[in-house]
Amino acid sequence: MAFPPAFIDELVARNPIEDVVGQYVSLKRSGSNLFGLCPFHGEKTASFSVAPEKGIYYCFGCHKGGSVINFQMEIEGLSYPDAVRALAKRAGMEVPEDEQYQSRYRQQERLWALHKEAARFYHAQLYAPVGAAALQYAAGRGMPQAVLTKFGIGYAPDSWTDLVDVLRKKGYTDQELRDSGLVTVAKKTGNLFDRFRDRLMFPIIDVRGNVIGFGGRIMKKDDNAAKYLNSPETLIFNKRKNLFALNLAKKSKMGYLILVEGYMDAIALHQYGFDCAVASLGTALTEDGANLLSRYTEQVVLIYDGDNAGQNATKRAIPILEKAGLQVKVLQMRDAKDPDEFLKKFGADRFKLLLEESSNRVEYQLSAIFKKYDLKDDDQKVKYLQESAELISSLPSAVQREVYGGRVAEAAKIGPDAMKLEVERARKRRLAREKKAQEKIDLAPARALQPKSRSIRYDNMKSAMAEEMLLALCLREPALLDRAAVLTEEMFSSPLLGSVYTQLSRRHRAGLEVSLSGLEDLSPEEMSHVAGILQRQQGPVSDQALDDCIRTIQREYKAGSVETAEDLMALREAMQKRKGIGQ
Ligand code: UTP
Ligand code: MN
Repeated sequence: MAFPPAFIDELVARNPIEDVVGQYVSLKRSGSNLFGLCPFHGEKTASFSVAPEKGIYYCFGCHKGGSVINFQMEIEGLSYPDAVRALAKRAGMEVPEDEQYQSRYRQQERLWALHKEAARFYHAQLYAPVGAAALQYAAGRGMPQAVLTKFGIGYAPDSWTDLVDVLRKKGYTDQELRDSGLVTVAKKTGNLFDRFRDRLMFPIIDVRGNVIGFGGRIMKKDDNAAKYLNSPETLIFNKRKNLFALNLAKKSKMGYLILVEGYMDAIALHQYGFDCAVASLGTALTEDGANLLSRYTEQVVLIYDGDNAGQNATKRAIPILEKAGLQVKVLQMRDAKDPDEFLKKFGADRFKLLLEESSNRVEYQLSAIFKKYDLKDDDQKVKYLQESAELISSLPSAVQREVYGGRVAEAAKIGPDAMKLEVERARKRRLAREKKAQEKIDLAPARALQPKSRSIRYDNMKSAMAEEMLLALCLREPALLDRAAVLTEEMFSSPLLGSVYTQLSRRHRAGLEVSLSGLEDLSPEEMSHVAGILQRQQGPVSDQALDDCIRTIQREYKAGSVETAEDLMALREAMQKRKGIGQ
């Protein structure tokens, strides 16, 4: 039987592939991948890879690969539904085997779509005449248009039923409107009214990209109304289990997440380049929130407001974060009430200084190494220097390496030059290791360009390479599917890749997770092949890269498409002519 797509998405989200594979294979991190010995074929060097961010595994040796569900099937020899049941059990989820659960997921899907409509409506109002004051307010708070677009910020007009009317027109029932929490119900008449009126609207988006609720800020000072009004709890919105901006921050390369109190703080941080910021949703941080964070990072920097309430909240949050296995740093807010105010007063560079002061993992780790050794003993002193050099060699900036190297040298009472030499040596070894790991990945495509299995052989290699790259880009950055929408399935030279493209586009439009686990009707070989593509294509994601692929596919399609008998004749003639020239 088919499981609802939203259920499968949740199942996959709750079964991180590295954890599931980790139960069978011992994995070691190398860059963004984990490597281990392949459980599906005998080998002595690790060519089996897991990419947590992409949610896939792939073996460069035996070319098996796929999503977490495929892994479960393969390793335990299970059918698809049984693998799904096993993973559901592992994550403590109920399997929607019956009509009741099925309908629950359908209901969720409707509510997500409804929220998307509402977000579109609010956003459009911001640029309509009724939104003039709101737009001005946003500008006054230093939010440029790019930020308004990025966060989908909108305006709820000061009217009774504008949103209700729009949603009804789109076919949503009154029951669905009530379930959404975006309306209030008049007690006597039962009539529906817009809940949010005359507020600047912040859409709350979950990690899968679904709009699940809103926060609305009042724009004039009014002691009788709450400054922020948030969506109530609904079937799709749980304040404690979601964090504002995590959908963006989860893609950050900063290596840690920043947790702040307010929507505006998170937005300002993103705006000033700190793309790893998230905010709690008007509640204290809970265990659920901490567990959610721990799925995306190992380190959290807490930046709560400088007032008493903020300091108390910090004290409470630390043990909750640590219990979830997170390393915690605290940034003490100074000279401003909150990060938003600080950034707008002093700018990003000064904020960075605050951040470095607080989140200095190197200092922390160096002191841990220092404590391990007795520096009066020469043997231990050497070990101390080596281990410190290894750590310092991982720092990307030469200045940092110099500064910390100097400190370690001083502690061990040796000259700074000797230490510098030691650090450089450790750094060379490190770079060589990283280069080797990358080569392993780079070399793989040359060997595996042409698919092994007959059904997935490529007829047009040039187009197929562009098709592969395009799919890899879109799987990594689903928003690119909008840009790729000029392509249609038949333009793909490979029927398999064309069908994958169509499925991904359809999921993207429906607001579902764009990932391998959502693909239907693929044989294990086909699934492995697609996982291999995703794992081999490591280049940077950009609009430019995508456009190159689109152009190649279009060009090859035009060149190869023979539509009429005349075309065929012309092609034959052209080929004969070319032959003639060659002779
Ligand atoms: P703050 O009062 O610190 O607001 O509330 P802020 O983030 O600095 O907002 P601006 O800069 O005045 O616009 C912090 C968070 O607490 C929740 C909101 O999530 C807010 O972002 N909150 C605050 C509410 O839910 N309701 C309120 O009435 C006030
Ligand atoms: Mn503020």
